Amino acid sequence: MSNPIRRIAICTGGGDAPGLNAVIRAVVIAASNLGWECYGIREGFNGILFPERYPEGGVFKLTRDRVKGIAHLGGTILGTTNKGNPLQFPMKMPDGTIKEVDRTGEILEFFGRKELDALVSIGGDGSLTIAHALSKKGLRVVGVPKTIDNDLDKTYTTFGFDTAVAFATECLDRLHSTAESHQRIMVVEMMGRYAGWIALNSGISGSAHAILIPEIPFDLEKVAAKIRERDNDGRMYSLVVVAEGANPAHGQRSVLAQAEIGHAERLGGIGERVANSLQELTGKDARVVVLGHLLRGGSPTSFDRLAALRFGAAAVRALDEGHSGVMVALALPNVNYVPLEEVAGRMKAVPLDCDTLQTGRDLGICFGD
Ligand code: F6P
Repeated sequence: MSNPIRRIAICTGGGDAPGLNAVIRAVVIAASNLGWECYGIREGFNGILFPERYPEGGVFKLTRDRVKGIAHLGGTILGTTNKGNPLQFPMKMPDGTIKEVDRTGEILEFFGRKELDALVSIGGDGSLTIAHALSKKGLRVVGVPKTIDNDLDKTYTTFGFDTAVAFATECLDRLHSTAESHQRIMVVEMMGRYAGWIALNSGISGSAHAILIPEIPFDLEKVAAKIRERDNDGRMYSLVVVAEGANPAHGQRSVLAQAEIGHAERLGGIGERVANSLQELTGKDARVVVLGHLLRGGSPTSFDRLAALRFGAAAVRALDEGHSGVMVALALPNVNYVPLEEVAGRMKAVPLDCDTLQTGRDLGICFGD
């Protein structure tokens, strides 16, 4: 039987996503209703690993007042980082080389010293893998699934995804008229590292004519044929959505910066490549719009806000019911708990037999295959 919970900490890690603040608010209010105290760790675990960087405290008390009026705000009041995984923390050695060091012991020690009984870790695959490791080392942990990319397994959706899709769809809606007025090809590059959920869902919702996602290696000749077919039918413009991680059937993904110790590879540039090639293949004018980090900004949609509030409240319920090493997940119509080991290190790609993809095909959208 573990000790009763009195004090918990919350952290947000990885790229930010609309809804983070709603989760924080729900955790703080639900926990304080149980008589627990809540603490926020700044910028992933940096608030614990580098307290000297935060004169106002790397870990600070989250009161009800502190989380007042934040549910609709983008970003995270705790700050976040996608550098410096404490399991493989890049440290400069005396000889000047950089080595990856496991610093999770320092986090466990901090929790013990400050009498923090549990952690709510809000993040994507990286953060949940860290949460899983901490739970295996004895910390009481509940994870909350966040990412605009929707690439986490065992949950119907992650919060942040709906907001990104809604914004991308609005952008596509706006681009139709300018593309049509100029009889152009408009290529829209979107985030979606190894999974094409944002491109697929917004592309279909926003009536794109071609959608290129990492799950389906593409042949631009097929896309050019689709554009020519539209031209022949008198529809003289085309919208092509491309996920940043999409790759040609006979080529490479577009990498801006290679992975280095403590940081994943940076993708980008595929939109430009696709636009140049399509311009050459069709003889039509092509332009590129890169939505990039705009997809991570703004207020969460009501769907994401509600999902985030439900996740935050469920994380506190899970701890109160004695669970640990689990992630709260959306198993429509309810929230459930999934063991972190079933989530950590697994990616949810778009299944090639899903009906959303089939819907796109039924509507005549070209997937480059
Ligand atoms: O949040 C996930 C994600 O949006 C990926 O699609 C993208 O590749 C990555 O974050 C970029 O993050 P950053 O530029 O912050 O390193």
